[in-house]
Amino acid sequence: METIELGGTGQLVSRVAMGGSPIGGHGWGDVDDAEAVAAVRRAFDLGVNFFDTADVYGFGYSEQVLSRALGRRRREVVIATKFGVRWSDNAKPWKDISPGYLRKALDASLRRLRIDCIPLYYVHWPDGKTPIVDTMAELVRCRQQGKIRWIGLSNFSAEQVREATSVTPLQALQVQFSLADRLKAAELLPLARELGATLVTWGSLAEGLLTGKYDARSTFAGDDRRRRYDNFRGEKFAENLRLVEGLRRVARALGRTPAQVALRWLLDTPDVGCALFGAKRPAQVEENVQAAGWRLSAAEYQALKMQETPIERKSA
Ligand SMILES: NC(=O)c1ccc[n+]([C@@H]2O[C@H](COP(=O)([O-])OP(=O)(O)OC[C@H]3O[C@@H](n4cnc5c(N)ncnc54)[C@H](OP(=O)(O)O)[C@@H]3O)[C@@H](O)[C@H]2O)c1
Repeated sequence: METIELGGTGQLVSRVAMGGSPIGGHGWGDVDDAEAVAAVRRAFDLGVNFFDTADVYGFGYSEQVLSRALGRRRREVVIATKFGVRWSDNAKPWKDISPGYLRKALDASLRRLRIDCIPLYYVHWPDGKTPIVDTMAELVRCRQQGKIRWIGLSNFSAEQVREATSVTPLQALQVQFSLADRLKAAELLPLARELGATLVTWGSLAEGLLTGKYDARSTFAGDDRRRRYDNFRGEKFAENLRLVEGLRRVARALGRTPAQVALRWLLDTPDVGCALFGAKRPAQVEENVQAAGWRLSAAEYQALKMQETPIERKSA
């Protein structure tokens, strides 16, 4: 497995890392628990040692399934989890990164994950009111208490990230980045290099779209988030399907699958550390981990880079 040092820590993590949003079983259509557990175990067996989750995925369930699937191995791998999105009893989410909520959320994640210390703890999203320096100061206290080892920010702007590092260095930055969604990563890639933090991409497969299995006739079950995502609607969806055609051509020539090429494109992008993939089944894991261990040629990389969708170009 291809590895990289996590943000100057000396800890090696797999560059292809497993995301735990789908295994949380909420908002992804049908998810079978036994298959989800088998998927996590297959990832571990294939050399993945970096597992990403968040307390809000499945409202706590993703952390529980991940812990159950890993069993004793949960202490051997690097588990990253996040806090900052609360939820009500009727599953209505809202953002809160206040120090008081952080302490509660952290203890709850430790309980669900059944570990004493969270290797990598992210602030999930800005909440629009808590100064990030206050959250960071509380994270430092949690680290001093031995409850977390490393700190990351997810979905923060470059300016907010800089402000946060006035309190303590960061080991990871997480951002939405894929062939279909490139805008948010643009300012964070050079910043990650400057700060020595590992940049981790989410939505790397644009929620499954870049696997090439969806087309204009695809439909999604009631609670499936893809019913409301722009990538699957209107003009952006049509553009994405054209992008997938280009991806398919490159993949065919390489004897790879579109998912593998889409993930590889991220890994070959300068300053990308790790690409997360979500998966519900072992077969998806088996396919995705084969994005590791090879490279696109400069011409192949460039050909895919040029396929930026017009909507992305317009908003840049
Ligand atoms: N920081 C954040 O705010 C944030 C936000 C979102 C996600 N994340 C993290 O990033 C991870 C990855 O993002 P994601 O899970 O949202 O989306 P993703 O990796 O882009 O897509 C995951 C979905 O694509 C489909 N898929 C994956 N591999 C496949 C394959 N080889 N063949 C066919 N279908 C395949 C599966 O769904 P179907 O089978 O139903 O198509 C899977 O659930 C998450 O799990 C989470 O850990 C973080």
